[in-house]
Amino acid sequence: MRDYVAYNSQMWDAWNEERNPWTRPLTTEQFQRAKEGPIEIILTPMKTVPLSWFSGAGRDVLGLASGGGQQGPVMAARGYRVAILDNAMRQLQSERMVAERERYPMLALQADMTQPFPFKDESFDLIIHPVANCYIEDLQPTWNECYRVLRHGGFMMAGWANPIIYMFDDGALENRDVPLVARHKLPYNGRKEVEKGAELSQDTGYQFSHTWEAQIGGQLKAGFLLKDFYEDTEPDNHLGDYTSLYAASLAVKL
Ligand SMILES: C[S@@+](CC[C@H](N)C(=O)[O-])C[C@H]1O[C@@H](n2cnc3c(N)ncnc32)[C@H](O)[C@@H]1O
Repeated sequence: MRDYVAYNSQMWDAWNEERNPWTRPLTTEQFQRAKEGPIEIILTPMKTVPLSWFSGAGRDVLGLASGGGQQGPVMAARGYRVAILDNAMRQLQSERMVAERERYPMLALQADMTQPFPFKDESFDLIIHPVANCYIEDLQPTWNECYRVLRHGGFMMAGWANPIIYMFDDGALENRDVPLVARHKLPYNGRKEVEKGAELSQDTGYQFSHTWEAQIGGQLKAGFLLKDFYEDTEPDNHLGDYTSLYAASLAVKL
């Protein structure tokens, strides 16, 4: 595991203990509702994934960097077979905790998504990849692995952060009284910033912005075709007054 990946993994363990919004596992009530209602999962902070995105999807689902007990349990409640790959141990523990409590089988694997995935070719029908690739430096190997482990006719749903977020200091994003001043050249590379002397903080860890070319072009380069796309925002973000802050795509492996 690369050093920055190991740092981020420990940081996510700590965030899991603090129960930030991306680490709160489904409750029993939510699991019961998921069994009865339509599929409601998110890839980005606010919008739920359109129901049409699930039509025609087979049963074998990979939750990529989606540990924590959110998307996985919803899919399991709807009868999908779920495997979760995440590199934070506590995020996987939450995932297992829900599975044991609700008595469904699932696979939770600790692995780094920048490395070859521990799965055979064409193992899955659907990949669910919520916002997480801001924690890795180079997207292409990950998109290529997604393509490899997906079956033909399978789908990949992915969310990511609008790179423009990284142009501004967190203080300005979090506080409407602080002017939004462009401070960082894009693509932002947290690892290089730390090497140049920037402070490394457990509040953010190592983060990376990616160009639209790396996000969308990278999926196409891996072999996917894009079927659909939406943008999203998040509450209480100063920049959100001016632009969308997140994006999500549905890609298919023909
Ligand atoms: C924003 S959370 C998304 C998870 C969550 N289930 C949700 O509610 O959408 C990002 C996840 O990416 C994982 N992650 C970060 N870097 C990773 C890497 N290199 N390999 C695998 N997982 C990674 C973190 O551990 C964390 O669980």
